[in-house]
Amino acid sequence: MSETPDVAIGAIAARSELRPRVGVVLGSGLGPFADAVAEPVEIPYGDIPGWPASTAVGHAGTLVLGRFGDVPVAVMKGRAHLYEGLSPADVVFGVRVLGGLGVRSLVLTNACGAIDTSVEPGTLVAISDHLNLQGSSPLVGPNDETVGPRFPDMTNAYDAGYRAIALQAAARLGLELGEGVYAAWLGPAFETPAEIRMMRALGADLVGMSTVPEVLAARHMGIRCLALSCVTNAAAGVRPEPIDHERVLEVGARAAGDLVALLREVVPLLD
Ligand code: HPA
Repeated sequence: MSETPDVAIGAIAARSELRPRVGVVLGSGLGPFADAVAEPVEIPYGDIPGWPASTAVGHAGTLVLGRFGDVPVAVMKGRAHLYEGLSPADVVFGVRVLGGLGVRSLVLTNACGAIDTSVEPGTLVAISDHLNLQGSSPLVGPNDETVGPRFPDMTNAYDAGYRAIALQAAARLGLELGEGVYAAWLGPAFETPAEIRMMRALGADLVGMSTVPEVLAARHMGIRCLALSCVTNAAAGVRPEPIDHERVLEVGARAAGDLVALLREVVPLLD
């Protein structure tokens, strides 16, 4: 049985007096955003009781508490995924800890494949809704009513107001920012072309292996969410060539500058 987030919350509160209002979950290659946090207190995940170790390539494991402009923030450098073999509760452990520390707004970033054939690799997309195709939810099991309701509403899971802020910020920066529906896949294998056709028929524009468990846990706690995806590749079968993880990381690294610039513009506006 894993530890509850309470012990972790206490351990973090003992290392920093900062009470974060905005949380940021950084996907791979987006560490430079955390470098811009002022007066940072950096806590390796391994020092936090109960925090699951991430094994994904390109994912560091550090929680950074500090200020971004006037806003107290908690930045997760690296996240856990279901495909690592962790339980759904472990995958959202960090988000529950951030919620317990006082975070009311959460920005999630990820890399994804484009199911929509008109979306080019390197493009940024704000997620407008999701399809949970992972076959699990972190909310399964006994419900703690002090954390959130048994049957949380997911109508506005991806906050429309936050999305408008992100779209305006992108326009100010001269960055293209699309909007789309994200399908969450368990992985770790990339999808088959038939699975991608299924997702397209179901209404998905993007596909990835993260974010949805975290959004479910955050919404359960009443936290408002903004999710920004970096499209690293055309989804399986969209183009003739196979999907190569090295190439996914390469395109992600090239688009990381744009995503970090967008985060810097948006995070101070989310309170
Ligand atoms: N599928 C799933 N996850 C991904 C992809 C993809 O094509 N690209 C980056 N993450």
